[in-house]
Amino acid sequence: MDVTHKTPVAILISGRGTNMMALVKAVQSGQLDADIRLVLSNKADAPGLQFAKQMNIPTKVLSHRDFPDRESFDKALVEAVEASGAQVVVLAGFMRVLTSTFLSKFPNRVLNIHPALLPSFPGMHAQRQAIEYGVKIAGCTVHIVDEGTDTGPILAQAALEVLKDDDENSLSARILELENRLYPSALQTFIAANAAKRLATGKE
Ligand code: GAR
Repeated sequence: MDVTHKTPVAILISGRGTNMMALVKAVQSGQLDADIRLVLSNKADAPGLQFAKQMNIPTKVLSHRDFPDRESFDKALVEAVEASGAQVVVLAGFMRVLTSTFLSKFPNRVLNIHPALLPSFPGMHAQRQAIEYGVKIAGCTVHIVDEGTDTGPILAQAALEVLKDDDENSLSARILELENRLYPSALQTFIAANAAKRLATGKE
């Protein structure tokens, strides 16, 4: 059995892609035992795609607008991820809700990062929700994706203090720095735990 092999991963993005970049850099520096097989975006103009291309990582664009419903979009996503050979799917600012059509193909193998301390502030504009609520501690969460919105089992969290003068922008920027540090380490812990499980059970 090859115990040194890197886990094949697909990263799904919709925009700027700083979390994806942090994951790519963590692979390059040897902190993350992943082989990034695919960066897929549902938006053709996602800036993150350019970075992935520069890094010679295969990229793909699948626009949800080209599909009549969520299920057919998710089917196409499944095909793209399976074709890449990825076993773990990492959502990094991917702004589409995935249905069971997708999730059932990768059970407990889809991870997401959310810019709040879940279960507080799920959904859109989490940092704005935190500012409006007036919380004193904010942060980010890496979790396994289930069919709810930001409801799956939590793998890791990081917290920071909300400063007196913080607004949505300043808080978002500081949470993003935390995210970019948390995601690589949380993914590495997840990958190592699954590798250990494989060794113990002898199953892929
Ligand atoms: C990140 O803040 C991520 O937590 C958030 O989108 C941003 C993507 O930034 N995701 C969600 O809100 C998902 N519910 P990035 O493109 O620079 O990685």
